[in-house]
Amino acid sequence: MKENPRLQAVQAVRQELSAIGIDPFGVRIERIPSPTEGLIDGRPTILAGTNNYLGLTFDPDCIAAARDALETAGTGTTGSRMANGSYAGHRELELDLARYFSKRDAIVFSTGYQANLGMISALAGPGDTVMIDADSHASIYDGCRLSGANTIRFRHNDPADLAKRMRRLGADAAQALIVVEGVYSMLGDRAPLREFVDVKNEFGAPLMVDEAHSLGVLGEQGRGVSEEAGVLAEVDYVVGTFSKRLGNTGGFCVGDSADMDVLRYASRPYVFTASLPPATIAATRQALRTLAGADALRQRLRDNAARLHAGLDALGFRLGAPPNAVVAVLLGDKLQALKFWDHLLKHGVYVNLMMPPATPGGESLLRCSVSAAHTPAQIDAICAAFASWTGAKA
Ligand SMILES: Cc1ncc(COP(=O)(O)O)c(C=O)c1O
Repeated sequence: MKENPRLQAVQAVRQELSAIGIDPFGVRIERIPSPTEGLIDGRPTILAGTNNYLGLTFDPDCIAAARDALETAGTGTTGSRMANGSYAGHRELELDLARYFSKRDAIVFSTGYQANLGMISALAGPGDTVMIDADSHASIYDGCRLSGANTIRFRHNDPADLAKRMRRLGADAAQALIVVEGVYSMLGDRAPLREFVDVKNEFGAPLMVDEAHSLGVLGEQGRGVSEEAGVLAEVDYVVGTFSKRLGNTGGFCVGDSADMDVLRYASRPYVFTASLPPATIAATRQALRTLAGADALRQRLRDNAARLHAGLDALGFRLGAPPNAVVAVLLGDKLQALKFWDHLLKHGVYVNLMMPPATPGGESLLRCSVSAAHTPAQIDAICAAFASWTGAKA
């Protein structure tokens, strides 16, 4: 069979990496005794790149709920909710989410990726316009593609640029779907949501906010940047994932639209994929209960984030954003980033290596995600591993 030309570019990157003898995409965690520790290449390793912000993957109540569901409802649903029907837990979780966000209704998707795909492609189609932040997550870009709508990017976190582009749409601006994220996953920077809501109100357009990286931590009750900025009631659709603070897999959208129930049937990523298994639903429902009263966990996460940020700042690294659960160390050079990442792994610390085109501004970066489950000693050990690097720091 002839080589597929579409795969040549990917193959070239892999070959470049394997020539150096480092494979950042083939990491295998041999054992995972806790949310912050893994065994990698036989070496005890601190996990600082998991997005497990609250450490709930090992929460005893979530595990008990999952175990009970596994035993009473089996391992999987073996099909989509449209074809096979919903289990009671699917709908109960949707009602839990709607209550938590004080929104009319919710739709649960099988991943956060599918939530963005599903919502954008159900809300917009050919002839419509979607306005997205230039630094949007791939799932937002892919949702736009699936929708077939005209997609316009505005400058990252720039409400004035959005307003300018909305004005150019004339009467169509009122139907344009605006999509932003609460916290951006690569650098951990926050959207100026109050100002984005002002733009949305000026044009009467719907606004969707992806709170994947802010759910559970920001805002008084952990409802994200929308709550923190006091605009949750004005956000039309909040999208999120169970795969970070809720310690599981799945995605959701909550909203006040009377069409929420219809939207699910117009959403191919909802209709044509298997629904979440009972254990996932049960553990997520429990995690959501934990989240509502998780002030102590949130405080521990803030303390850990501040400690890591201060430690790396003192070492002279260029950091992506003010103290936050995502602490990104910016490194201009790709090869340098790769070697640094490998150095950290060999010193018992796992972080995410992020390279263009997945990163903003063509930067390569080492992305740490802090967990409430990290101990201060682990945070200090992460800083010590960074300190042991003798190569360039930017
Ligand atoms: C902003 C954003 N939205 C959506 C997703 C997708 O979430 P999931 O992992 O549940 O598919 C991610 C994942 O990293 C994300 O960062």
